[in-house]
This record gives sequence, C-alpha cells and structure tokens, in this order.
Amino acid sequence: MSVLAGRRVLVGVTGGIAAYKAVYLCRLLQEEGAEVRVAMTPAGTKFVTPLTFEAITQHTVATEIFPEKEFVATRHISWAQWADLCVVAPATFDFVGKVTHGIADDILANLIAALPADRTLYMAVAMNSEMYAKEAFQENVETLKKRGVRIIDAETGYLAEMMQGKGRMAEPEQILECIINDLRAQMPWTGKRILVTAGPTRERIDPVRYLSNASSGKMGYAIARVASQLGADVTLVSGPVTLETPRGVQRVDVTTAREMARVVEIAWPDADVLFMVAAVADFVPRDPADQKIKKSEATASLALEPAPDILAHCGKVKQPGQLLVGFAVETSNELAEARRKRTSKNLDLIVVNNPSTPGAAFEVDTNVVTMVTAESEEAFPLLSKEEVAKEILALAYRLYRELNVAADSNS
Ligand code: C5P
Repeated sequence: MSVLAGRRVLVGVTGGIAAYKAVYLCRLLQEEGAEVRVAMTPAGTKFVTPLTFEAITQHTVATEIFPEKEFVATRHISWAQWADLCVVAPATFDFVGKVTHGIADDILANLIAALPADRTLYMAVAMNSEMYAKEAFQENVETLKKRGVRIIDAETGYLAEMMQGKGRMAEPEQILECIINDLRAQMPWTGKRILVTAGPTRERIDPVRYLSNASSGKMGYAIARVASQLGADVTLVSGPVTLETPRGVQRVDVTTAREMARVVEIAWPDADVLFMVAAVADFVPRDPADQKIKKSEATASLALEPAPDILAHCGKVKQPGQLLVGFAVETSNELAEARRKRTSKNLDLIVVNNPSTPGAAFEVDTNVVTMVTAESEEAFPLLSKEEVAKEILALAYRLYRELNVAADSNS
C-alpha cells in the first residue's frame, strides 16, 4: 500500500503556465490513494479553470477568501486543519515572496498561513529564468528552507517562451516522488504489523457487577496512534474504554482477560511487535453468578482464580525477530520488579511507571516512565502520553532493527 493512501493533500495552484501540470499531479496523488483538494490564487484561475480541478477532485475548489455566493465561514482554518500536507505547484516568484514575508491576501496564502506547524509544505517553484536568478527570489527560498519548507527546485529546459533556461517546474512524477520519499523516511514502521492492547478488562461477578482495573486506555491508544502514523499496520485489542479509534487503526473490542487472550494469542504469531499495554486482570471470579446476587445472599468472600497471563504466553512462544514489550505499574521497588518481569516473561523491553508519581499512570494525559531493556535503563521526565508513545516507538524501533539484523545474519 502506498504511503500516500488515505492522506489528505491540499494542492495549491498559483499563476504560472505550469498550472496545467497541476491537473496531472492531482491525478497522480489520487492514484496513490490520497484525498485531494485544490485551492487556487486568482492568477492561477487565469491559467486553468477551477472547474477542471473540481471535476478531477470531485470537490469544491477554493478560489476566493470571501466568495459572495458560497457560505465559507472559517474555511481557511478548517481546510488547513484537514490537510496532512500541502503542495503548491507551481509556486511563482510572487507567491514564494508572499509566503516568505507572511502575506496572506489570497485564499491559498491564507490557508498556508493557517497550516498547522506539524504539516509539511512543499513548493514546486516555476518561473522565467531571469526571475529565478533574482536575489530576492533566491533569498526567499533560503529563508523558506530554513523554516522547514520543502522546496522542489526548478529544472532547466524549455520555458513558456520556448527559451532554454532554469525555471521550469519539476515534472509531476518528480514532485510525487519527493513527497513519497519524505513520507517513507518519516514512517520507519511501514510494512510492519504491530499489535497493541489497551484499557482494562472486566471480569464478571454476576450480570451487573464486575472486577476491573484502573485504566483509561490512553497510553495504549497513544501507542497505536503513533505507530500508525509511523507507517505500521496496527491492530488495537481494546478493553472497554471511551476513546475514539485512532485513524488507520484496526480495533478489536474485548471485555474479559480470556477474550483478550484469545484474540492476542491468535494474532501474535503474525505480528512483528506486541505492545501489551492493557491492564489485564490478574484474578477472575471463579464462579460468576448467572443471576444478580441479592444483598441478603452476599458472602464475605469472593472465590478467585488466576487469569491467563497473556504476555507470559507470548514470551514463551516468541519467534526470532519478534519484539515483545510489556508494561508494569509498580508502587514500590519499581526497577527491581521491572527487571524481574522483563526476564521472567521473556520481554525485550518493559516500560514501568509508578502511579503515585504526580502526573503518572491512570486517567491523566501525562506519564513518567522508565524503560528497561537487557542493556539499558532510561528514566524519562514528565511527558504527554503522546510523547511517551513516540519515545517508546523510537526505542522499540532500534531494538527491532538490532533483533532483525541479528536474525538475518544467523540465517
Ligand atoms: O505481572 P504484571 O501483571 O505486573 O505484568 C504486567 C504486564 O503483563 C503488562 O504488560 C500486562 O499487560 C501484562 N499482563 C498480561 N496478562 C495478565 C496480566 C498482565 O498480559 N493476566
């Protein structure tokens, strides 16, 4: 599957003769599975009609900040938020100048001003070679590069006037290749299958009562979300939580430890990595009642039996090249416990936290963790769960590569 599949791409078209090539660029992006919307500067619409892009993208084309006949409200914000990335092709001398100097007097420049900081902006520059050589343009390009804008340089060839020179826009195929290469580099887990468990389990006492664990599922969901953004094919086995499924993630809902064990044990042999983040019950009621236990019948004790230890099972059947990551919540002797569990469950990495540390563990959006491997122990400061997920995935990636280099050289 292409790295562009499901991506939302905003294509910006400004007033240069290369605007005709933007039509084909939209097509190429769509063929890769991207969703495309187009915004044009008024000058852009002089070269190719908005109708052409509307027909290709099957979507309204944004051409004005304040159209008279259309309700647009804060479209410059909603479209900018919608886009995963933006590519301006062609980007003219004038438009490059505008973006460099923070001018936003047309709909496209407005959208770019409102583009969230984590979205990449590509500009495929195109102009006459005299304009291309101007200091003003060259300096603007340098400034934009320093700000993280990806400039797709112009090529030497025939310009509109049939003169040879530098200034011709890169071909749509090259623009596409540049975007795909960047996305691949940002997505090291592409092609890998990652299994994540999250949330608590519920173990029935009777039809209305259950035993459970304090877990919001936020840490596991953050790992699933980040892993998917990094290109992995993610399956999230989730206990009962009230969180939204992250985009691109396949979610399987379970309730009890036994249900979770069934799903994970079937999926594990085909997975590359398992992050066992769920707060699985350690004990389950031995004889759940079929009818609600009356208050008058309540006994002083509840007979329990051990739940299947899913992680320990996965550790036993782990194959060379598979990476197994466990989590531990410890209220005392955290490190000693983490080391012991890592070895006894055959884990490559264990992430430990202490819920009594301010900002750590359940319900909250932050966590304070220590990551323990066979070779290293690293304590992290208070971070958002999203940042913790990124750290965990970065370390997991290094460990996964080491394992697989070793596995490849042994075979
Ligand atoms: O031994 P302890 O329960 O503290 O280990 C925690 C780790 O084991 C977590 O990764 C948790 O998801 C996993 N676990 C499990 N099955 C259980 C209990 C915990 O897989 N029944």
